[in-house]
Amino acid sequence: MYYSTMKVAVLTSGGDAPGMNAAARAFIRRAIWEGYEAHGIYHGYEGLLAKEIKKLTSRDVGMIINQGGTFLGTSRSERFKTDEGRQEAADILKAKKIDALCVIGGDGSFRGALNLSEVYKGQIVGIPGTIDNDIPGTEYTIGFDTAVETAVWAIDKIRDTALAHGRLFLVEVMGRNSGQIALSVALSCGAEDVVIPEEKNNIEGMVKRIREGREKGKRFGIIVVAEGHDEGGAIKLAQTMEKDYGLESKVSILGHIQRGGTPSSYDRVWGSRMGEAAVRFIKNQYTNVFTAMKGGQLVPAYLKEAVSGIRTVEPEMVQLVRIVGS
Ligand code: F6P
Repeated sequence: MYYSTMKVAVLTSGGDAPGMNAAARAFIRRAIWEGYEAHGIYHGYEGLLAKEIKKLTSRDVGMIINQGGTFLGTSRSERFKTDEGRQEAADILKAKKIDALCVIGGDGSFRGALNLSEVYKGQIVGIPGTIDNDIPGTEYTIGFDTAVETAVWAIDKIRDTALAHGRLFLVEVMGRNSGQIALSVALSCGAEDVVIPEEKNNIEGMVKRIREGREKGKRFGIIVVAEGHDEGGAIKLAQTMEKDYGLESKVSILGHIQRGGTPSSYDRVWGSRMGEAAVRFIKNQYTNVFTAMKGGQLVPAYLKEAVSGIRTVEPEMVQLVRIVGS
C-alpha cells in the first residue's frame, strides 16, 4: 500500500511581528516530528504567487527564535486581494501538492486566508501574529508584548527630557485602528492620558485634565496617542491643541521601531505554542481555524470570528490610565 506524505506549508503575511520566527520554527519542527514534509513560503502571499516555496528541514529554522522580523519575509499583496490572484495561488498550492497551509499574520492576512479557502481545497490554519493585538476571538497576538516593551523603553527616555524642560509630550504609537498598544503603553509609562480610536471627541476633556494637573503642580506630561485615532495622528492633534486651546506640546512618533527587535520571552513562548498547536489542528483535520488564546488557554477558533471586526478595548483600562496618571 502507498501512502503519500502529508505536505504542509507556512507563510508570514502583513506587518512583521517579533515572535513570528518562533511560531514558524515550531510549526516546521512539529510538522517534521509528525512525519510531514514541511515547506516555507517566502514573502507572504506575493511570494506564493511567485512560487517562492522551499522544502525546509529542522536545521533550516535553527538560530532564529531570538531574531526579530520574519526569516520568511512578508508582504502586503494587492494581487492576492483579487479573485484571479487567489485562484492562481490555489492552483500553485495544488500543483505543489500542499495539503495544508498555515498563515501567520493579522486580520487582513486571515481575511485573505478565508477567501482563499473558497478556491483552495486543502486545510487552512492561522496563527495570530501582529503587534496590534486587535484580533477578535483571541486575547493575544504574537508581537504585542515586545512592541509594548519597546515603546515603554522609548517613553521612559522621553520622560527624562520632558521632566527637565517641564514639557508636554504627545507620543504616537502604532496600532492602526486599535487602541490596545496605546492603552498598555500608557498604563506602563504612567502617562497622564491616552488617545485611542475607540473613544471619540476626547480633546476637550484631555485639555481640561492637563490643566487640572498643572494646577495641582504637575510640571510635565506624557500623552500616548494611538496612530489611528479620529484627530489624525499626534502631529495633527498637537496642532489642534495649540490652535484651539493654546496648549503647546512636543511630538514624538515611535513608528516602526515598535515592530523590530529581539522578541520577548512571552512572544517566544506563545509563538512556539501556537506554531506547534497549528500542526496539531491540521492533524485533527481542522480547517479555517486559528490558534486562539481564550481564558489563557490555547484553543481553536474560527477564522470567521477573527475577521468580524476589531477586538474591543476595556473602557475600565482607559479610566485606569487617567486615574493613576492624575
Ligand atoms: O499591523 C501592524 C502595523 O504595524 C500597524 O500597527 C500599522 O498601522 C501598520 O502595521 C503599518 O504598516 P506598514 O508597515 O505596511 O506601513
